[in-house]
Amino acid sequence: DDSDGEAEEYLFKVVIIGDSAVGKSNLLSRYARNEFNLHSKATIGVEFQTQSMDIDGKEVKAQIWDTAGQERFRAVTSAYYRGAFGALLVYDISRRGTFDNVGRWLQELNTHSDTTVAKMLVGNKCDLDNIREVPVEEGKALAESEGLFFMETSALDSTNVNTAFELVIKEIY
Ligand code: GTP
Ligand code: MG
Repeated sequence: DDSDGEAEEYLFKVVIIGDSAVGKSNLLSRYARNEFNLHSKATIGVEFQTQSMDIDGKEVKAQIWDTAGQERFRAVTSAYYRGAFGALLVYDISRRGTFDNVGRWLQELNTHSDTTVAKMLVGNKCDLDNIREVPVEEGKALAESEGLFFMETSALDSTNVNTAFELVIKEIY
């Protein structure tokens, strides 16, 4: 019987963070709506989408939050992280600088969230292997040393997008 609001017991907040233009908004639109935009604009403030999935026969809903990578467009930091159970920290495998900044994002995440938050390091744009600047092994090694899950994804060709979100959501659940 769903009339007692049982479904609401399983609403989990997940945040996406990382530098501007690494593909955060496209990862979310690919996951939630199977959409990709080659010319998407930088996010201003915060957007979110709710996506349901089935785990062990139970409906689990994830409310996935997406904010601007650009400092001047960002939402209030503490409010953004408040209540989060999971986090995807995204860099772009074709831009070394976005990987170099992972440590800063991780520090912010750790400052504003619980230690129990399920965290995944995501190397996005793996379709751009021909102009790759960050080897897979480096991503893996960083994730291992920081205790994060790791996956390379492509919002463009859909590689591992569902898998990445669902792994984090399952870990929370
Ligand atoms: P901010 O909102 O400024 O923080 O950026 P963002 O991280 O949300 O990036 P966004 O999703 O807007 O994508 C930036 C650009 O990268 C867009 O031109 C996208 O089309 C492109 N892009 C996103 N994901 C991929 C991907 O997996 N592969 C390729 N080749 N391009 C991608
Ligand atoms: Mg965005």
